[in-house]
Amino acid sequence: MPSNIPCVCSIIGTGSYMPERVLTNDELSKIVDTNDEWITSRTGIKERRIAAENEATSDMGSEAARRAMESAGVKPEEIDLIIVATVTPDMFFPSTACFVQKKIGAWNAACFDISAACSGFLYGLQTARHYLNSGNRKTALVIGAEKLSTLVNWKDRNTCVLFGDGAGAAIMRTFQDAGENVPGRILANVMGTDARLTDLLKVPGGASAMPVTAENADQRLNTIHMEGRETFKHAVTRMLQASEEALQKAGLTAADVDMVIPHQANHRIITAIADRLGVPPEKTFINVDKYGNTSAATIPVALDEANRSGAIKRGDIVLLVAFGGGFTWASTLLKW
Ligand code: UT7
Repeated sequence: MPSNIPCVCSIIGTGSYMPERVLTNDELSKIVDTNDEWITSRTGIKERRIAAENEATSDMGSEAARRAMESAGVKPEEIDLIIVATVTPDMFFPSTACFVQKKIGAWNAACFDISAACSGFLYGLQTARHYLNSGNRKTALVIGAEKLSTLVNWKDRNTCVLFGDGAGAAIMRTFQDAGENVPGRILANVMGTDARLTDLLKVPGGASAMPVTAENADQRLNTIHMEGRETFKHAVTRMLQASEEALQKAGLTAADVDMVIPHQANHRIITAIADRLGVPPEKTFINVDKYGNTSAATIPVALDEANRSGAIKRGDIVLLVAFGGGFTWASTLLKW
């Protein structure tokens, strides 16, 4: 921004969209050898949403975007950057962000996707923040959207009970202001990656390293493979670290946090992080019971629900924190 007045990057609206179809634990127990008691006690998940066959990731993302634009009071033509975080794009190319542009009519936007698995939405927020703060763009739409039901091996009880579909979105803008009066203000960001651990959570087949063949598709190599226990440990360690780093950068402590909105993969991971941070349960937003793990969509969906339900209020310190395949992790601290 061409000025010496400090500029502040802010989230000015949120939206989300979840597909109608609910898949319960009891229904899953008819497909694989599992039961409601196991899924609930190990993960906290009771049900998840499944997109319709003809409902693509960009359809869900576009609906979340419309709701975010409405909440921000922004018209499609004002958006000049669209970033979609997803591991389930409509196609390899064009990017899902291009399809979102077409569906919402944001013809002035440059569009691209980000692939950072479950950390994708926070990677997207941080990328958009740089474009906005540099003055290169004025209004950004960042979406986390996934149709994970297309990547799940419905015969593998270790993974198929965990995931779901959905989308969330945020509209971002910069303001030339000392910052105190701007709601939704980003105070600090953290991002990290440890690619020594790519093997613990991945979809091995279906892309350039292992193009689809009848044989590997038969072995379900184009579906999610996860070492659950190891992933769990790293998720707790890295999300805790990312949370502490963001607080430190902003000169705050966990006692200042009004709401933690963590990636929703497992209730036990969320409570482990909250416990270690010293944040009480009433200050931890949880909706994994309703939607399961929707990867890049969990945080924007939860942020939108927290915003609309009044769980977060103007002036609250809100900590977003994510972890996913790569491994990747990220956190964003906001003054709502
Ligand atoms: O979004 C990215 C980050 N993702 C995550 O952070 C997920 C991290 N991991 C987890 O959330 C947990 O590790 C899981 C929920 C995936 C698994 O929970 P766990 O307590 O680590 O269970 P486990 O994998 O150690 O399996 C315990 C037992 C095994 O049986 P044996 O070998 O002890 O006889 C599994 O075969 O539970 C069995 N099991 C199941 N039983 C009933 C695994 N899945 C199921 C199931 N229903 N769906």
